Amino acid sequence: MDSSSHVYDAPPAGANADWTVPQNWDAFGADDHAMWDRLFARQTAMLPGRAADAFLRGIDVLKLTRPGIPDYRELNARLMAATGWQIVAVPGLVPDDVFFDHLANRRFPAGNFIRTPEQLDYLQEPDIFHDVFGHVPMLADPVFADYMVAYGKGGLRSLGFGALDHLARLYWYTVEFGLIQQADGLRIYGAGIVSSYAESIFALEDPSPNRIAFDLLRVMRSHYRIDDFQQNYFVVSSMEQLLQVTVETDFAPLYERLESLPDILVGETIAEDALVTKGTQEYVKGASRYQVPKSPGG
Ligand code: PHE
Ligand code: FE
Repeated sequence: MDSSSHVYDAPPAGANADWTVPQNWDAFGADDHAMWDRLFARQTAMLPGRAADAFLRGIDVLKLTRPGIPDYRELNARLMAATGWQIVAVPGLVPDDVFFDHLANRRFPAGNFIRTPEQLDYLQEPDIFHDVFGHVPMLADPVFADYMVAYGKGGLRSLGFGALDHLARLYWYTVEFGLIQQADGLRIYGAGIVSSYAESIFALEDPSPNRIAFDLLRVMRSHYRIDDFQQNYFVVSSMEQLLQVTVETDFAPLYERLESLPDILVGETIAEDALVTKGTQEYVKGASRYQVPKSPGG
């Protein structure tokens, strides 16, 4: 994250104490709405048969098909009725404790800008398209909605154990880059995938990445990369499985074990992995740029 990005030490001028700002929907211009529509059309054309049923249901339930950047006054009414969640606008990435507190209280913080045409396929910071199109449909799913609340509470708890980096990997490999095994095939549900045209195809169809059955401890040992497609994806067998294992497991002893277990590098597999598909790892761009996780959000 470079210094020009919107990362602040304290709520910037105009922001509330909890870092939220008004969405100020009326301030978006025709170009902004056109960018949303362009991205929306490109993604929705490709997602049937690729995105999880829960994600596609969310688009429908929330009426995200209406043109233009969603007005949170309307979207929140639908989301509230579905699962009690709300979207709140924030000026950029927020501190970890603030982020977790919002999640624990069923509020999803969303960036309040939309990418420019030059940033169509890649940007470092989450914009409205990533945050709303990528994250919000799953928040209309009751099981996933409860998982996100539990994650927020678990995040606040992790701070007391100094275990944020390990817990952030769980967010990364589920909320951002998760795959799910449906009866009719493998599907994507992670926001980082479903909001990316190229990765939606890569994650499911490319021979390169490993697709590994989800295992909590394994995931929390795994480095990830923030600058390119993932080389390992983790597959949950259902949202209920993900919710159950994370809620019913006390993470405190896991955090302690993680301190002595070696990390697993990007693209690596271990003997215990249950591989859904073994990758060729032929797609390795900038392979030396391994990232140790820092932020749970994004
Ligand atoms: N059960 C976890 C703990 O003991 C909390 C948690 C729930 C973390 C769901 C992540 C997801 O800390
Ligand atoms: Fe995100």
